[in-house]
Amino acid sequence: MKKRVGIEALAVAVPRRYVDIEDLARARGVDPAKFTAGLGAKEMAINDPGEDSVSLAATAAARLIKQQGVDTSKVGMLVVGTETGVDHSKPIASHVHGLLKLPRSMRTFDSQHACYGGTAGLMAAVEWIASGAGAGRTALVVCTDIARYGLKTAGEPTQGGGAVALLVSETPDLLAMDVGLNGVCTSDVYDFWRPVGRREALVDGHYSITCYLDAMAGAYRGWRERAMEQGLVRWDSKLPSEQLARILYHVPFCKMARKAHAQVRLCDLEDAAGPGSVPAEARDEAAKSQASYDAQVAKSLGLNARVGNVYTASLYLALAGQLHAEGAALANQRVGLLSYGSGCCAEFYSGVVGEKAAERMARADLDTVLAKRERVSVEEYERLMNLPYDAPEAIAPEPGTFRLAEIHEHRRKYAGA
Ligand code: CAA
Repeated sequence: MKKRVGIEALAVAVPRRYVDIEDLARARGVDPAKFTAGLGAKEMAINDPGEDSVSLAATAAARLIKQQGVDTSKVGMLVVGTETGVDHSKPIASHVHGLLKLPRSMRTFDSQHACYGGTAGLMAAVEWIASGAGAGRTALVVCTDIARYGLKTAGEPTQGGGAVALLVSETPDLLAMDVGLNGVCTSDVYDFWRPVGRREALVDGHYSITCYLDAMAGAYRGWRERAMEQGLVRWDSKLPSEQLARILYHVPFCKMARKAHAQVRLCDLEDAAGPGSVPAEARDEAAKSQASYDAQVAKSLGLNARVGNVYTASLYLALAGQLHAEGAALANQRVGLLSYGSGCCAEFYSGVVGEKAAERMARADLDTVLAKRERVSVEEYERLMNLPYDAPEAIAPEPGTFRLAEIHEHRRKYAGA
């Protein structure tokens, strides 16, 4: 019998400060509607140098272990997905392993491919367990990132930061994966990148959207073909994508999920043949269906709109937001997930929401995680952005969180939890 494998539980960590997106728009002399309606943003997380990608990852993982009572003696793999590395050699996973005092008998590594690195790590963990190589052990996958484009750039309102930690096991209370159905699509493009030594990403913004949509079309069609072979979706009066209860997307900014959903629908509308097919001239309108977006996507974006882009973690923040909003209602229903990493690689996969999803999400206490944050002015945001990355302010960590305390002789030291 095929093993049930997937995500058992998750936890979220976010920087303790945020800026209101309308404040930012006004400070930049931009109509706030461009950032709210045009990009779909509400708030944007701001980290200070003490809240680096390591401390956010360790905080999320420690929170997961505590909230869900994870038996760390059974964890056999720790993967950190990130594009905010702090060292060319020493992985963030080894920092997290040490800070959490995890058992030594464990595989640890980082996974990098822009925003796709977390999903690549998740699939390594899922397939490790599904193959039997895990021998009953569990895996921790932590997606952690700080999205930085720089002050007064076009990307500025699409920054953010945070981490999502996932427990992967044979008890998939949140999401049982449809192992083997994943569709993937890769191409060699320069849409978004961050050369070694740079703190801010470089991006060809509009081109990056085109690359995302193009790669996701390939990934979605790959998944759909396999899902049809397995009889999970079919050509019917409902489009194949409409046969998924919800679809969660990589969310660099919330409006992107709307564009992505229209693209998935367009794939179905273009490929449909026979009596149910839509004439070419009506396809674009049918693809942009507000009703479909409202039913299948909108409720997943509650956290993303308040945190901003979290690169590798952004899809998993959407999963958290979706299950936080509708965990009970979605029990036993199939959802689709689309991961995209610039450079680029897209992966579309699916899974079935578990019956204990709402109970697991209640333990994640996401309302408190967000409510504890402090709203700061644009002046304070700019001050934080201009601080040197290697000289963190001496602030005592909040209970249960980690902070970078200092970098001494190129060695990072952390305090907290
Ligand atoms: N009221 C309402 N809407 C308005 C408006 C107003 N006053 N003014 C503009 N808008 C709308 C525009 O019509 C547009 O909507 P559509 O896309 O639906 O047409 C939207 O607001 C944005 O306007 P612009 O395209 O003019 O905005 P921009 O050129 O300043 O930049 C951006 C937008 C390209 C997304 C930029 O923020 C950026 O470069 N962001 C970073 C790159 C990014 O996130 N890419 C996503 C794909 S790559 C990826 O996913 C990987 C990753 O995580 C980075």
